[in-house]
Amino acid sequence: MLDMPTRTAALYGRVRKVVPPMEWAAFSADIDAILDLKEKRDAVILAHNYQTPEIFHCVADIVGDSLALARKAVEAEAEVIVLAGVHFMAETAKLLNPEKTVLIPDTGAGCSLADSITAEDVRLMRARYPGVPVVTYVNTSAAVKAESDICCTSGNARQVVESLGVPRVIMLPDEYLAQNIAAETDVEIIAWKGHCEVHERFTPTDIRELREAHPGVSVLAHPECPPEVVAEADFAGSTAAMSDYVGQAKPRRVVLMTECSMSDNVAVHHPEVEFIRPCNLCPHMKRITLGNIRTALEENRYAVEIDPQVAGRARQAVERMLAI
Ligand code: 13P
Ligand code: SF4
Repeated sequence: MLDMPTRTAALYGRVRKVVPPMEWAAFSADIDAILDLKEKRDAVILAHNYQTPEIFHCVADIVGDSLALARKAVEAEAEVIVLAGVHFMAETAKLLNPEKTVLIPDTGAGCSLADSITAEDVRLMRARYPGVPVVTYVNTSAAVKAESDICCTSGNARQVVESLGVPRVIMLPDEYLAQNIAAETDVEIIAWKGHCEVHERFTPTDIRELREAHPGVSVLAHPECPPEVVAEADFAGSTAAMSDYVGQAKPRRVVLMTECSMSDNVAVHHPEVEFIRPCNLCPHMKRITLGNIRTALEENRYAVEIDPQVAGRARQAVERMLAI
């Protein structure tokens, strides 16, 4: 193992363009402690693309969008999984690893989409549209997943909808994601009225103003943005798809219409690309910090538990998605 100063110095090299030295001084002790705790506890840290760079680039073992985190959770060999992300992501990891300890460092890390719908709502939708299959975004509770036929993420939503081979599906709970997918497929989509509190705030006017202020800028939008925003963007895709787009198209300047940490995390790999940064913070993602990741590992908290009555059916919906 490297001695501490060398270890943290090497890590700082990764993020120095996006983390000022003053901030790093406050992070390095927690980073050292977390690296040791991971070894001691046989733990891996899965981090979503919206986690801050000191988490994403310095302590995470696996990073990605919701789909990648779900896939990698299945392969995780460690005894303990720490989910640096929001609660539904930790629940998904637990569904796929019922025997393992899955920790979420702050149980208040929720999601406005997950909060927009209950299991009872899904049952009412089924009663209203008998026989129409229910496709549920992973940004939902395990109880909602348990009432669903199959899950999807922003990275595979169209594929999942079309895999069912039916003319009509119910797609819950993100109204904008549903509308954006409806624009790409012949399958009729019945939506719910849930919204992401981060992406619903972007407007087409934002994009027009950005194009005027930054000529030649490539505009990438997450499909949780309203359809009129997606229509004005150059590309729409999941957080992983946006990151891949930057790597492949190598735009001279780019704006990511999504959560703020995305630009920081992607910029680390592409110093030649200019990132224009109007963005919106997700208050839920930002509840996860180095400090509470460290405490999670030190005190084994907060372990995710799922009602066994719910877990079996919810797991099926996630596994059906992963099988596609
Ligand atoms: P991705 O699956 O694209 O990473 O999105 C998750 C999310 O919460 C976006 O707001
Ligand atoms: Fe939920 Fe939106 Fe935050 Fe993603 S960005 S976790 S969808 S509130």
